[in-house]
Amino acid sequence: MTTVDRHPGHVDAAEYRTLMGAFPTGVVVVTTTGEDGTPYGLTCSSLSSVTVRPPTLQVSLTSTSQVLAAILENRRFAVNLLHARAREAASVFASPTDRFAAVPWRPTPRLGLPWLHRDAFAVAECRLARTLEIGDHTLLFGEVSTVDHADDVPLLYGRRQYSAWPGD
Ligand SMILES: Cc1cc2nc3c(=O)[nH]c(=O)nc-3n(C[C@H](O)[C@H](O)[C@H](O)COP(=O)(O)O)c2cc1C
Repeated sequence: MTTVDRHPGHVDAAEYRTLMGAFPTGVVVVTTTGEDGTPYGLTCSSLSSVTVRPPTLQVSLTSTSQVLAAILENRRFAVNLLHARAREAASVFASPTDRFAAVPWRPTPRLGLPWLHRDAFAVAECRLARTLEIGDHTLLFGEVSTVDHADDVPLLYGRRQYSAWPGD
């Protein structure tokens, strides 16, 4: 094993990103709706589970995000879990483009949140339960109120690239 702890006591942003980039994740698009009906969404890999009872997940969003601002207003958000064929959607929702013009979407039946029905194999609607600001990010804790889930292969992300599920 190669040791890369060259600066004990001081880890810069690049080093930290390299560390966390070595921790593979799935990829989701977190969405919400503005007061005037405008859809908002961004690509996110910081999803994790918090508790089962009540069913609660968390995502960490950069505090300057417009999507974060819209979620703090609406107090509701959806987590769209992308399948392995949705790399393009993942890129679109991390780019400064007209994101909702580039991928098909429709409102979820219950809360009317943006659902990427072609690119997501599962969508969870959440009520914003709690927030926590830490450094340059804000943690959003969402209590899951509905889940729509099909069986499909998730998109993976790690080492700064998308990848396929081993064996598929
Ligand atoms: C694979 C991947 C994962 C990402 N994960 C996060 C994340 O967990 N939190 C976050 O704030 N941004 C994340 N980003 C970056 C945002 O998608 C990107 O900065 C986006 O432009 C933010 O949109 P906004 O400026 O409209 O809020 C990720 C990007 C990619 C490609």
